[in-house]
Amino acid sequence: MIAIHDVHMVYPGGRGRHAVPALRGVDLDVAEGEFVSVVGPSGCGKSTLLHLVAGFEFPSKGSIEINGQRVAGPGADRAVVFQQAALYPWLNVRENIGFGLRIHGMRGAEYERRVRDYIGIMGLDAFSRHAPYELSGGMRQRVAIARALITQPETMLMDEPFGALDAQTRNEMQRFLLRLWRTLRPTVLFVTHDVEEAILLGDRVVVMTARPGSVALDLAVPFQRPREWDLVLSPEFVEVKRQVLGVLRPQLETAEHLEEFIAGLEGTPE
Ligand SMILES: Nc1ncnc2c1ncn2[C@@H]1O[C@H](COP(=O)(O)OP(=O)(O)OP(=O)(O)O)[C@@H](O)[C@H]1O
Ligand SMILES: [Mg+2]
Repeated sequence: MIAIHDVHMVYPGGRGRHAVPALRGVDLDVAEGEFVSVVGPSGCGKSTLLHLVAGFEFPSKGSIEINGQRVAGPGADRAVVFQQAALYPWLNVRENIGFGLRIHGMRGAEYERRVRDYIGIMGLDAFSRHAPYELSGGMRQRVAIARALITQPETMLMDEPFGALDAQTRNEMQRFLLRLWRTLRPTVLFVTHDVEEAILLGDRVVVMTARPGSVALDLAVPFQRPREWDLVLSPEFVEVKRQVLGVLRPQLETAEHLEEFIAGLEGTPE
């Protein structure tokens, strides 16, 4: 469904800035309804990859196709959820959730019903008239996910959606996302820094190299669904985690910012 072929991305330099090679030859295919987790060192181009699939930007080289069509820009078939819930501060919860439907011209009873359904699914009934600043971080992120899902996109592009949440809220949101995914079955590309989260949620875990990023490991997660939450304690899970970390760790060490950081330290007089 998503076919990423030999994708390179260089952000152009100019006006005193260096050009930044962000991706180098990324190959990745995602099947319809599949949940693929992506991990990699900071700055390796994970967000860049999502932006390219979303159609916010275009690859310098290579191709990205969705259902055989080259990505030519953003589309209603793809929804994006960012790390910081990007809600409209002047709209309340129900208006934020219904925003995408309105853009598509939906009004009246059908609009009301759909918005009410999603507010219910997200457990936000008591907060439908609240403004974003009156919500907790987890609630804001639920609104953002509802807003993304309500138009029933085929593809969800999620960029560390739970990265800013505390461990317990994060855990609730993970279960919640899995429940939604089982019901609606969107294709998901899910970026995270958390290896356990990547394995627990994904059908596959893709590990990227340090910048410029490419695919270092593409591993099928061998656990059946639904997955129990004590799975992370099992020796089998630990073994998969070991495999992922075995590829990820050396990439973290070669990540450029660390090299620079270490070089900086070495150059510092006592
Ligand atoms: N719009 C842009 N213009 C210029 N350079 C950019 C732009 N967006 C990203 N970059 C550069 O591309 C590289 C990859 O950035 P990207 O945000 O994709 O990394 P990431 O893997 O998502 O990192 P993190 O895990 O920290 O979110 C970085 O060096 C970044 O500075
Ligand atoms: Mg990022």
